[in-house]
Amino acid sequence: MFEMRTKRLLLRDVQHLDFLALHQLRSNPVVTRYMTYLISENEQETREWIQGTMYHNALSPRQSYNLTVVRQSDEAILGWIGAGHSDTPHYGDVDFGYALLPVYWGQGYATEAVRAVLAIAFDRLGAQSVYGECDARNVASARVMEKAGLRRIPAVDDDDIIYAITRAQWESS
Ligand SMILES: CC(C)(COP(=O)(O)OP(=O)(O)OC[C@H]1O[C@@H](n2cnc3c(N)ncnc32)[C@H](O)[C@@H]1OP(=O)(O)O)[C@@H](O)C(=O)NCCC(=O)NCCS
Repeated sequence: MFEMRTKRLLLRDVQHLDFLALHQLRSNPVVTRYMTYLISENEQETREWIQGTMYHNALSPRQSYNLTVVRQSDEAILGWIGAGHSDTPHYGDVDFGYALLPVYWGQGYATEAVRAVLAIAFDRLGAQSVYGECDARNVASARVMEKAGLRRIPAVDDDDIIYAITRAQWESS
């Protein structure tokens, strides 16, 4: 099982035992307000999503990392972060997404997790450039990407904000 530690977090492959926390995440409209993915209408959809992420995490060579975000100090599950090869590679060849349970917002955890996932994208997925996408109203998410060292680039759709970072920018940061 893949795992990676940052100063305060453990990022590890999604497992069945994460069901309760990940279902809380996926079924909370406050969390998914600006998201078009990661939404569960019922428990079955969360179970199927976990099954799917475990399947993709197990592929070799690995194409994606779907990770549960755990706080090291008390093993609380804070949320999810994932990166994988992109279907729309004009912004970058790897993209990522993330969400945390609201009780954990505002403590810098998402920024810490995004920095780690950028390392995974460049070091393990061989990315040349990595991007994240968010709804233009999602100010917190845009701020996270900016704090993590990505730069805003023009988006095809005005309703989206795209932040990207190249390998050269990552290596010099
Ligand atoms: C986006 C999200 C992951 C941020 O997590 P987090 O751990 O709170 O993020 P951080 O603490 O690292 O940073 C948040 C930053 O946004 C800022 N912020 C939060 N809400 C804001 C708002 N409404 N307006 C302006 N800035 C805001 C915070 O002040 C902080 O910036 P600062 O450090 O300069 O003060 C979290 O809000 C979340 O899970 N949202 C729902 C899911 C989602 O939208 N995911 C992204 C999909 S693209």
